Amino acid sequence: MLVFAIETSCDETSVCIMDSDKNIYSHIIFSQEIHKIHGGVVPELASRAHLEILQKITIQALKKSGKTFSDIDVFAATCGPGLIGPLLIGSTFAKSLAIGSNKPFVPINHIESHLLSPTFNNEFRYPNLCLLLTGGHTEIYLLDSKEKIKLLGETLDDAIGETFDKVGKLLGLKYPGGPEIEKNALDGNELAYTLPTPMLNEDNLNFSFSGLKTAVNQLVKKNNLNEKFVSDLSASFQLCVSKILLGKIKKTIKKLDEKSKKIHTISVVGGVSNNKYICEKIKNYFKKTHIEIIFPIKDMMSDNAAMIAWNCINKNTKSHQDLFFNANPRLKIN
Ligand code: KG4
Ligand code: ZN
Repeated sequence: MLVFAIETSCDETSVCIMDSDKNIYSHIIFSQEIHKIHGGVVPELASRAHLEILQKITIQALKKSGKTFSDIDVFAATCGPGLIGPLLIGSTFAKSLAIGSNKPFVPINHIESHLLSPTFNNEFRYPNLCLLLTGGHTEIYLLDSKEKIKLLGETLDDAIGETFDKVGKLLGLKYPGGPEIEKNALDGNELAYTLPTPMLNEDNLNFSFSGLKTAVNQLVKKNNLNEKFVSDLSASFQLCVSKILLGKIKKTIKKLDEKSKKIHTISVVGGVSNNKYICEKIKNYFKKTHIEIIFPIKDMMSDNAAMIAWNCINKNTKSHQDLFFNANPRLKIN
């Protein structure tokens, strides 16, 4: 089965041509630059940028793959959750291609695709605990199988990636702040500043990051934004974030243990899983345990169409096709 998949839920325009033997014939991710000057994603500008680029990268992807539309068996696109304008553009484009080629259209859930992305390159032993760390989500899921997915905890305010981006902005770094903070932290002293770890000691699996951002803001007001300060604060911020994440993972495992559920794998997915420091901290902690820490391939960490294609390949196309499925900004996992 050859799938043509489109991802446009936020500010990445991406297309992928993949077959059911995991061959990726082409995968293009176009990150919209326009948002950099605004320090965050502007939905209307994202919609326009998707419209401008989608047709071009579709043609590029076909050329690179050596395939034609008549070779494609299924068209898939992200239908939610995400920004409604961008979702409508990608899904309507994919539906039109499906109608024109007389092939099925399969609507795909963006979050489910992130959660299942490490099944592409790992032996996925269930039960699995998945940490979804993106610009819009910070969530812990329990996966008993590909179909049995349960949300255990989530952020009550800002998402982790959003916090990286806001802290980056406060430190005068480029957008997106995540990779910039990671770079600056390399030369910094992570013990220079003690930052709060909100909700870490509360008996639930939820997160809160807004207080952390406020604490950084207060330090920025009291100090000069010189190179040393930015490096030290970046490093201290990363240490604090990894403490929060590890603390919540440990709490989740303990709670599941009490219910006699033994976790076999922990996956870390979404854009923040690009952060080597955080991933190493988690890996190191579980090094001597039976729990294996797994990640998606690099191209499936940030928003991308390959994870959409892969999710589609794992579904029964006959029962999941639906040309009339509406894009939904709050789409839930079934
Ligand atoms: O999953 P993603 O590409 O898009 C969303 O669905 O939101 O995640 C984007 C987020 C941004 O907030 C970005 O700053 C963060 O991922 N990010 C990172 C790193 N690379 C990307 N955060 C920390 N460290 C990184 N190396
Ligand atoms: Zn995402």
